[in-house]
Amino acid sequence: MSKTAKLILGNETYEIPVVTGSENENGLDISKLRSSSKHITIDRGFKNTGACYSAITFLDGENGVLRYRGYPIEQLAEEATFLEVAYLLIYGDLPSSDELAKFENDITQHTLVHEEMKGFLQAYPVNAHPMGVLAAMVCSLSTFYPESQDPNRSQEAFDLTIIRLIAKMPTMAAWAFKHSQRHPLIYPQNKFNYCENFLNMMYSMPTDEYFPDPIVTKALNKLLILHADHEQNCSASTVRIVGSSQANLYASISAGVCALWGPLHGGANQAVIEMLEAIKNDGGDTDKWINKAKDKEDPFRLMGFGHRVYKNFDPRATIIKKSCDEVLEALGVDDPVLDIAKKLEKVALEDPYFVERGLYPNVDFYSGIIYRALGIPPEMFTVMFSLGRLPGWIAQWKEMLDNGDPIGRPRQIYTGAVKRDYVSLSKR
Ligand code: SDX
Repeated sequence: MSKTAKLILGNETYEIPVVTGSENENGLDISKLRSSSKHITIDRGFKNTGACYSAITFLDGENGVLRYRGYPIEQLAEEATFLEVAYLLIYGDLPSSDELAKFENDITQHTLVHEEMKGFLQAYPVNAHPMGVLAAMVCSLSTFYPESQDPNRSQEAFDLTIIRLIAKMPTMAAWAFKHSQRHPLIYPQNKFNYCENFLNMMYSMPTDEYFPDPIVTKALNKLLILHADHEQNCSASTVRIVGSSQANLYASISAGVCALWGPLHGGANQAVIEMLEAIKNDGGDTDKWINKAKDKEDPFRLMGFGHRVYKNFDPRATIIKKSCDEVLEALGVDDPVLDIAKKLEKVALEDPYFVERGLYPNVDFYSGIIYRALGIPPEMFTVMFSLGRLPGWIAQWKEMLDNGDPIGRPRQIYTGAVKRDYVSLSKR
């Protein structure tokens, strides 16, 4: 392919460089377009616009391919631990056994948060959505570690901030849940691994110790890996653009938590369960709800269906659907909404409306059913997504800094009023 494209505007022809990535994706480098042609491009929602060069995650939406640093998601989900994948995403390679042992130990040593952080929890109403609590607590960590605000911090200070955030996220997430239940907070225990520790903080009570079920721990490890990164999605792009102003990591990740909260993004997993429950309570008539989703006059959308990139299957949904059957059977859980989900999927995948638009189940369609089987309430589902996505957000933020990307500041096409003079109040 030619390494330049030609843009003809009136009598002028402009040469635009063509860039090609390691997986043969092609892009037009328009970084000089405005200065040469006085034109910008416009692409609402950035559906066709690349914001950066990245070596972290590769997606092939047409073929349902997802790889973290070149490793297929199917292999990582089956073979790796979540902290191993976190290290891979952030530092670029699978850790040696010594590197992993140090990473795990460093994280274990930083799971506590300052006691003053409990004051935030007491201030929130018990019905506060845990995503609001989590976003506030993540950003508040920056007030306890002011050195993290120094853009010229040393490498070890930079790495320590990453360790602190990965270590404290489960504690803050579990405490947000405990607060919502008006239960006593449970502290992290160094004897547990990452997933066990989170489950223990979620379900232990001072009166009786919780012993993490290996089936639940294994399922959680897989779910966190499947959510760990997904290239330039809405929340990762948010983390990048906030970090591009040299805002500290805690503030950038807090912004990512807020972006993920939306029901069109990470909030979809909670919306899926609420949708399935509504269909069950409405008598389980999936055809009725499929027709609502297709009706342009009806705001209802089939939550958990469709994706900006995957116009075929979402490989994560395939893995989670299989895991769903295994976990529910192993735990002896019979969840009627699983049957409704499978029926909905079958009906939708035979319907031209969904097939023509490439609308298939995404990562959120089945994840809520597993979370529910693990005893996690719907309002905590997007917190679980945040827990999984944290290393991906950190990796994207780190890469943005390592690459020296400039502060993000998109252009616009102005469509408002042209110049007009002020009219005094008495004349209006
Ligand atoms: C995540 O980007 C990522 O990588 C995200 C994520 C990650 O890991 O970070 O994968 C996680 O956010 C998954 C997506 C979770 N959201 C949902 O499940 C919410 C329901 N899905 C949609 O709202 C929608 O599909 C989006 C937001 C996911 C994608 O929207 P797009 O790419 O902007 O597509 P669109 O809204 O322009 O839809 C194209 C057409 C439209 O119809 P037409 O105008 O062509 O007639 O498809 C229709 C839409 O109306 N459509 C749906 C639909 N999704 C799209 N119709 C019914 N139900 C749906 N779910």
